Amino acid sequence: MTTTESSIAAAEAHSAHNYHPLPVVVASAEGAWMTDIEGRRYLDLLAGYSALNFGHGNRRLIDAAKAQLDRVTLTSRAFHHDRFADFCTQLAELCGMEKVLPMNTGAEAVETAVKTARKWGYQVKGVPANQAKIVVARNNFHGRTTTIVSFSTDAEARADFGPYTPGFEIVPYGDLTALEEALTDNTVAVLLEPIQGEAGVLVPPAGYLPAVRELTRQRNVLFIADEIQSGLGRTGKTFACEHEGVVPDMYVLGKALGGGVVPVSAVVSSDEVLGLFRPGEHGSTFGGNPLACAVALEVIAMLKTGEYQQRATELGEHLHAELGLLIGGGAVEAVRGRGLWAGVDIAPSHGTGRQISEQLMAQGVLVKDTHGSTIRLAPPLVISKEDLDWGLDRLRAVLAG
Ligand SMILES: Cc1ncc(COP(=O)(O)O)c(C=O)c1O
Repeated sequence: MTTTESSIAAAEAHSAHNYHPLPVVVASAEGAWMTDIEGRRYLDLLAGYSALNFGHGNRRLIDAAKAQLDRVTLTSRAFHHDRFADFCTQLAELCGMEKVLPMNTGAEAVETAVKTARKWGYQVKGVPANQAKIVVARNNFHGRTTTIVSFSTDAEARADFGPYTPGFEIVPYGDLTALEEALTDNTVAVLLEPIQGEAGVLVPPAGYLPAVRELTRQRNVLFIADEIQSGLGRTGKTFACEHEGVVPDMYVLGKALGGGVVPVSAVVSSDEVLGLFRPGEHGSTFGGNPLACAVALEVIAMLKTGEYQQRATELGEHLHAELGLLIGGGAVEAVRGRGLWAGVDIAPSHGTGRQISEQLMAQGVLVKDTHGSTIRLAPPLVISKEDLDWGLDRLRAVLAG
């Protein structure tokens, strides 16, 4: 048995099999590169599902974390701490909004958004008790809690986890008529990913998001944008909604907010909406802790330069131009995405997404499949053009094989 094989066997023996990782055991990483326990190097074209937008071991983020580790890491929200006000102020400003409610993981932030919308529905909109409805999209991915899987359309994510939480209506993504028909007087929110990540990087038809914005405004319904994967630079803008000139009522953020160092998530919205919470109604021991705030403050400062959005735009144009050339060659059926983010549909004749991912791994490139036939590319935004080209060469070679 190789060191890699025995490490994987030990992990499989003692962990729940809720993931199906590629057979690589990472020991260290820097920038866009990872090194495994046997010293092999791999180009990371997944970036922790966009949690590592700023790359592995980003100096600014690691230094911010180290400095904070020596001061104070956790107070719980039982006490104030000296990074909290700055974090909330800076994040609200980045979002052009007023208030922040910090959590840790993406799913917790989505749960928070659901609770917030329901509260707003009862206390402001006047929806009768326990009648609130939230409209979501087919093929959504918002996380793994029991409430969130209740409105998933992925059979694997749901099976055997019922009974399900009521109060959600599912409509086809990108279909405005269906959305309009689903709205009732009891609808408190429409919750959407501005680009559906796990579904295969699905970009809605142009004009859809502005139309949703208009419709929700007319019908007094909150528009919640889950930008956990699409936000914070990935698409070439701070928020994917910006591509369509849309400002939602609430952003749900996670992943890259913690820079791949610590889990940091948040709901960001107006005074009118987030101002409804009273002590005891919601919380998290770790949400908004000093270490999380210190790292996220550095993330926000980096995003405020616009440098990473610019990189995502420029390298993204290059990525999509190169991937576009693969369509029609037999191996690639479609390419979707925006910025440094792409879903590539592999023709069944050339193998499954998993098989292509394994072949790429053997060539020193790490990606991950989704929904059987799609591979997702989401390199760290700090990747160099040379490294990206190197990865694209490997992809071309695998697809030609
Ligand atoms: C759009 C979106 N929302 C929510 C989540 C859940 O985040 P987490 O895994 O941190 O709970 C994800 C994770 O992939 C996501 O892509």
